[in-house]
Amino acid sequence: MSKLTLTTSAPGRLYDIFQKCHLPGKSNEFKSKGIWPYFKTIFASEGPEVNMEGRTVIMFGSNNYLGLTAHPYVKSAAVKAIKKYGTSCSGSRLLTGTIDLHIELEEKLATFMDKEACLLFGTGYQTSQGVIQPLAGRGDYILSDRDNHASIVSANLMAKGLNTNVIRFKHNNPDDLEKQILRIPDNAGKLIVMDGVFSTDGSIVNLPAFQELADYYNIPILLDDAHAFGVIGDGGRGTANHFNLQYEVPITFCTFSKTLASIGGFVVGNKSEIDYLKHNSPALVFSASPSPASTASALAALDVLIKQPELVNRLQQNARFVRSHLISLGFDVPEGETAIVPITVNEEMGLRLWQELYDRNIFVNVFVPPATPAGKCLIRNSVMASHEQKHLDYLIETYKFGGQKLGII
Ligand SMILES: Cc1ncc(COP(=O)(O)O)c(C=O)c1O
Repeated sequence: MSKLTLTTSAPGRLYDIFQKCHLPGKSNEFKSKGIWPYFKTIFASEGPEVNMEGRTVIMFGSNNYLGLTAHPYVKSAAVKAIKKYGTSCSGSRLLTGTIDLHIELEEKLATFMDKEACLLFGTGYQTSQGVIQPLAGRGDYILSDRDNHASIVSANLMAKGLNTNVIRFKHNNPDDLEKQILRIPDNAGKLIVMDGVFSTDGSIVNLPAFQELADYYNIPILLDDAHAFGVIGDGGRGTANHFNLQYEVPITFCTFSKTLASIGGFVVGNKSEIDYLKHNSPALVFSASPSPASTASALAALDVLIKQPELVNRLQQNARFVRSHLISLGFDVPEGETAIVPITVNEEMGLRLWQELYDRNIFVNVFVPPATPAGKCLIRNSVMASHEQKHLDYLIETYKFGGQKLGII
């Protein structure tokens, strides 16, 4: 570096880019209240009971909807894959990262979802990027629900950077979507992106109303079925199937990190669209493929789902039990049909209720502003097929205790 560069007073040198890192954040506010529900470390996990901070805690915050991360067949498939292929594919699908397990899983997922083709990605987050950005071109319009998952928001931002227009419509509101469509030039390319099941409150998208609009205006719908796959629809086939619209919705994408007990993601659709993504998706071409163990465990989890669809019924039964009992206790819980059972309370009470539950060995997820409306807190109970009746009873008993103690119910 020259002497001149070191001594020149460049304007950029007056601003410390790291300044924000030293400011007190939301985490300080929590910690000052002695409540910290995030980044808890798990030391061992055997189904719904986990070792967290040295004690056994009943997990009601996991996305492991069918409980398959602890299934002996799924675990042994992962071990066998490591023995045969090693720990990583060490390359992208395009080059050296394709193994026969990827192809087998793609074929099985396409068949299960009754679509022509499937493509795997490294994570669910990456799948959103890998699908949305390449399909939405320069000057096209992405119409996206306001409450879509952060992975979709981030994919939209990436597309925006490449001159795609992004319009957010009111949450689960087909009337607002139509209003937005009417503002866009008729001849512009458009696509609609939505979560099938919204990840915070577990509500299901009003797909029939959206599909009617999509048909009328000839706009394809892309569904993120992360919280729907294995949970709703015939045998757990997701949102489109739940509404008998599986042949109308052209593209569904999903993560492995929930029902499929692994890490990775996939998209299903027609051969031509999937083939286009295979060759035009930077998230696929420039990133290593799912590891042998991840692929084998997702494949084994899918086998279990296909052979034991009763697990989906069991999950729905458990979720119905938790929902109806929390409603009977007097908590503010919406009606619903998914594995996510949310409770809304005021922000202060929510954190205290979370602590009461945690002190009694129950872990749930808690959302605070800005993830929720100002002053509100949402406690997300995630139910699993592997929860036994004793776990469900204890959850309800503990909510009754905590809710009464804090005067919430
Ligand atoms: C709706 C939705 N889409 C995508 C993802 C991202 O999936 P992954 O964890 O595999 O990156 C999540 C994860 O929470 C999600 O809830």
